[in-house]
Amino acid sequence: MKYRTIGSDPATTREVSVIALGAMLFGSLTDEATSFAILDRYAEAGGTFVDTSDNYAFWIDGGQGGQSEDVVGRWRRSRGVGGEIAVATKLGARPLASGTSYTDNAEGLSAKVIRESAERSRERLGMERLDLLYAHIEDPAVPLRETVEGFAELVAEGTVGLLGVSNHAVWRVERARAIAAASGLPGYEVLQYQHSYLKPRLDVPESIFPDGSLGTVGPELASYLRAEPGLALVAYTPLLSGAYTRADKPLPLDYDHPGTPVRLAALREVTRETGATSNQVVLAWLLGSRVPVIPLVGASSVAQLDESLAAVDLELTADQRTRLDAAH
Ligand SMILES: NC(=O)c1ccc[n+]([C@@H]2O[C@H](COP(=O)([O-])OP(=O)(O)OC[C@H]3O[C@@H](n4cnc5c(N)ncnc54)[C@H](OP(=O)(O)O)[C@@H]3O)[C@@H](O)[C@H]2O)c1
Repeated sequence: MKYRTIGSDPATTREVSVIALGAMLFGSLTDEATSFAILDRYAEAGGTFVDTSDNYAFWIDGGQGGQSEDVVGRWRRSRGVGGEIAVATKLGARPLASGTSYTDNAEGLSAKVIRESAERSRERLGMERLDLLYAHIEDPAVPLRETVEGFAELVAEGTVGLLGVSNHAVWRVERARAIAAASGLPGYEVLQYQHSYLKPRLDVPESIFPDGSLGTVGPELASYLRAEPGLALVAYTPLLSGAYTRADKPLPLDYDHPGTPVRLAALREVTRETGATSNQVVLAWLLGSRVPVIPLVGASSVAQLDESLAAVDLELTADQRTRLDAAH
């Protein structure tokens, strides 16, 4: 395993493994025994960065979520895990009632929600201090200052280490960080967005993104990250749910554009040269990109996790990287 530092304030900065493990489906689609086996294997391989959320995975059983945090919490307790494994969780997108969703009935990002939801997450996870807490989705109804101050209070009292943000417009991330900086408060330092080798169309409206996806790394976010090297990018769904290697996992419709076959051809070529799998080439490409990315991989078996972890040792040549980058 390799490691890198996230966060820039010496008081809260920490080292994490370069590959993060997503626990989204643990306790719902992935049963507890398998989830424990995957977590055990990840820790044994030196993995130290586990990702969950207070709403995972409400859409599986129609409830409000929490199974994933529960499983990670039980795993931590049963294995006696302490601060060596960083756990990141998220709030803001938990449905307020069973049978509803973040699209129409999300808990949001008010000061009250931030305090109460973080407390519930700490209980489920069995942690005095959450290593990293993200704002999961935007809440346009709450003034940004209230959200910024709500998160900062948790850092000040020591119940949260680092702050992160996911699925927000870049302008909103920057504005929240500016509000925090002007008040001497901690701001978002870890950005979690969907990112992979293939690029989706960004202009297709989605439920919470009427102008097209704000949850995917596009040109504006890439430019922001290059300008702000203190920020860390965590990339979710980097393997497109298995679509690179599996016929049973077709690419989503927003990848249906002329750039996709060109990029897939470059990927297949480099895959053949390396003798690795396409999944591993995609992960190696992310790990070594100009703005280094922390791939956040999901797995429903130990074998899938092993395939992803092996990408840490795959070094692409400069020529392979140039060809992958140039394919559009
Ligand atoms: N911030 C956000 O809004 C957001 C959104 C989505 C996800 N996330 C986070 O990101 C994590 C990863 O996201 P995800 O969508 O990739 O995860 P996921 O749905 O938890 O898992 C990815 C799926 O891809 C397949 N897969 C994984 N490794 C594979 C391999 N080596 N070969 C073939 N198929 C493989 C498996 O499908 P099968 O089970 O069908 O085999 C696996 O369940 C999540 O667990 C969550 O923590 C965050």
